[in-house]
This record gives sequence, C-alpha cells and structure tokens, in this order.
Amino acid sequence: MKLDARQQACLHEMGIDVWRLRGSADAAESPADVSMAGDEHAADVAGVWTSLQKTVSSCTLCELHKGRTHTVFGVGDPRADWLLIGEAPGAEEDRQGEPFVGRAGQLLNNMIRAIGLDRESVFIANILKCRPPNNRDPRPEEVTCCEPYLRQQIELIQPKIILALGRVAAQNLLKVSTPIGKMRGQKYVYPGTEIPVLVTYHPAYLLRSPSEKRKSWQDLQMAVKLFRKLQ
Ligand code: URA
Repeated sequence: MKLDARQQACLHEMGIDVWRLRGSADAAESPADVSMAGDEHAADVAGVWTSLQKTVSSCTLCELHKGRTHTVFGVGDPRADWLLIGEAPGAEEDRQGEPFVGRAGQLLNNMIRAIGLDRESVFIANILKCRPPNNRDPRPEEVTCCEPYLRQQIELIQPKIILALGRVAAQNLLKVSTPIGKMRGQKYVYPGTEIPVLVTYHPAYLLRSPSEKRKSWQDLQMAVKLFRKLQ
C-alpha cells in the first residue's frame, strides 16, 4: 500500500515510519523479503498492531486529544474480512473507549447480524479516534492527522471489503465530495489498494429517518453479494 508524501510525513512525525511489515511490498528490499514464514508474519502483525494501539492511546497530534476521555481504536477481529468505518466517537464511545456503543451502535449491531455476522467477527473503526466536541463534523486537519492510523489498521487487517457508514466516513475515506445518495450502490476502492468499498447510511441517520432503513438493507445485500463474489 503506497503512502503519499503528506501521509509519510505524518507517519514520520508519529514515529510510525518503522512500522512497515517486513513482508509488505513497501518494506521489501528484495523478493526474498516477501517470503516470510506464516508464523513469523502473524507475530509481526500482532506486534505492529500492539504498537499502533499504544501510539493511538497517547496521540496528541491534533487538538481533539485535549477534550477526550479515551481514544477509540476500534473493536472486533483484527483479521476480519469485513471492516466497517464510521465517523468519530460520540460521548458514550469517548467514555467507554469503544466505537458504536450508544443507540446507533445497537442498530449497527442489528445491521451486522442481519448479514449473518456479529460485532466480534468484523472490525469496527472510525475516521477519527477522538471525539469532536458537541459531535461536530471532523475537521480536515483532524482527518489528516488521524488518517495514517486508519491506513495502518487497514494494512494490518487486510479486509476483503470495507463498508463506509455515512457521508463523513465515505467522503473522507474515498476523498470525494459526492453526496451519499449518489455513492450508494457504487463500488469504490480504498485509495492505493484494491479493497472494495461500499457506502451506506450512518446508523444514527437511520434512527432519525427509519424509512431509509430499506435502502440501507439493499446496500448490505449488495455488500454480501460482492463479498461472495470475491471468494
Ligand atoms: N458514530 C460514529 O460514527 N462512530 C461511533 O463510534 C459512534 C457513533
């Protein structure tokens, strides 16, 4: 996964430029480097994951660290096929240090169950790891600082499919300003990778507009269909 100069600079500032997996294409110096034994690779991934968690928990790169109670790294299986990405922690998530634990989280759990999975078998993360005050939208500079963390998570998880939850997640993940209504039903890829990204409404929006749940269900069905095709 190629990082651009700005992201590399951000990573460097965070001290995570050393975190390339030894077997990853970016880190490889010769083809032999890529042929690491499976166990060694798994141990490497686990170590990098732990380092990343630690770095995120003490991050002070943007102003949001001043108001947080907890960072919210993500929850679920770090080797999940499905990665679900929301916007940013809310008040309850900030208190508990876990994404989607409020009412929207209950609905998200139901959406996940509706496609035959559960919270433990997917991975759930956000664009931002810290809560913006009064649940305002993430600012571009906050997204820029937090982005390398999510990118590293994606590199480590290597999900087969990413589901972006809501406009903020979709637009920031894909670097577009397309309205969410136009993004639904389209297959995107996470920039710099071949990982497919589909877009659906944010569960909090669905709580406010329950009549849109039907469309969200169509999105989930499309995601399942695409996922099956990838097998
Ligand atoms: N909304 C989000 O986008 N993420 C959370 O973790 C909680 C609410």
